[in-house]
Amino acid sequence: MKNLSSEEIDLLRHNARCVVRELGLLNDAYFEIGVTLAERHLLIELASWDSPTMGEIAERLLLDKSTASRLIGKAMKKGYIQYTSDAKDKRKKIIHMTEVGRRTLAAFEPIAFNQTKDALSTLSAEEIELVYRGVALYAKGLKNSRLKNRKLIEERDRLDEINGRWAGLGLALRLFAEGDEERLYEIFREVVDSGNQFPYESNSIQEFHRQFFGPNSQVYVVHSSGGEILGGFFIKPNFSGRSDHIANAAYMIKSTHRGQGIGTLLAKASLEIAKELGFQAMQFNMVFSQNFVALKLYQKLGFNIVGTIPSAIRNPDGNYQTGYVLHRELDM
Ligand SMILES: CC(C)(COP(=O)(O)OP(=O)(O)OC[C@H]1O[C@@H](n2cnc3c(N)ncnc32)[C@H](O)[C@@H]1OP(=O)(O)O)[C@@H](O)C(=O)NCCC(=O)NCCS
Repeated sequence: MKNLSSEEIDLLRHNARCVVRELGLLNDAYFEIGVTLAERHLLIELASWDSPTMGEIAERLLLDKSTASRLIGKAMKKGYIQYTSDAKDKRKKIIHMTEVGRRTLAAFEPIAFNQTKDALSTLSAEEIELVYRGVALYAKGLKNSRLKNRKLIEERDRLDEINGRWAGLGLALRLFAEGDEERLYEIFREVVDSGNQFPYESNSIQEFHRQFFGPNSQVYVVHSSGGEILGGFFIKPNFSGRSDHIANAAYMIKSTHRGQGIGTLLAKASLEIAKELGFQAMQFNMVFSQNFVALKLYQKLGFNIVGTIPSAIRNPDGNYQTGYVLHRELDM
């Protein structure tokens, strides 16, 4: 994106103000008809939309629910619209335009149409094309920025919610520090020794380092208020090069603390952290078909089984079990 100067930004703002003034929106060219700008948008939408609900109108007009409700209340008082209750769900109100609404629309629509037509008729075909493209591009930019801001707010809310739930359990999540090594390694050893959760042959400290502390790996630990390490996870690119937008992670919780929702929170937090790190998706390469808890957890969080590898894992008793590849987009 080009670095814009404040003069360039102010120039567009100035031109946008000129458009608003020329359209007579400050005088309100429609004053005689007694219809506000928001009511005009409402009636224009209703003319081409069969029986929307209040929520749908709010979404279409980019209004929050309470503003939409006030707009609809005023439009009803003026007799432009009325509502009926949905046959299946009585709480759902369906909005309809009345005869008064249709007459009002017919009174202001030609004014706006002719205003636009007269303005365009003073321009060349090339200039008209530029106007179409320019206005459409500006609307696109405004939309992009609105969606980006909404996404940031949603992500912050999700992280706040996760942090609140950690606090509710008397726990906290933080980046691994050197002093955590021994206690996190104990949990690693416990999981590897179970033989049924991680596919590593060795429970050695070297194996622990190899799996958890690669060059692009980040390790997080969850601890109690007393400082006891209860589990953790690593997060790293699943592949290098042109696939490094896909993350990989592995979670482990001390056996005494499983089944209390900690793993769910840990995995949810890792998805938010992965997004913050710029990953677009998360993939697990070898989830044991007999690791029912992990499979249940991942599928609950929106992961899909995208691959099935028969006889992928040798069990300690000499039999084999299937391995699954699980994948999830992060932007969902
Ligand atoms: C996988 C693991 C991280 C999950 O952590 P956890 O704290 O036990 O998970 P949660 O308590 O959040 O439970 C997750 C889901 O599994 C269910 N679950 C947990 N333990 C269960 C059990 N023993 N039997 C049946 N369901 C169980 C929970 O009910 C929950 O589902 P729900 O939300 O629908 O109720 C943990 O079991 C673990 O460390 N396992 C060993 C390492 C491992 O397998 N890692 C994954 C490798 S792919």
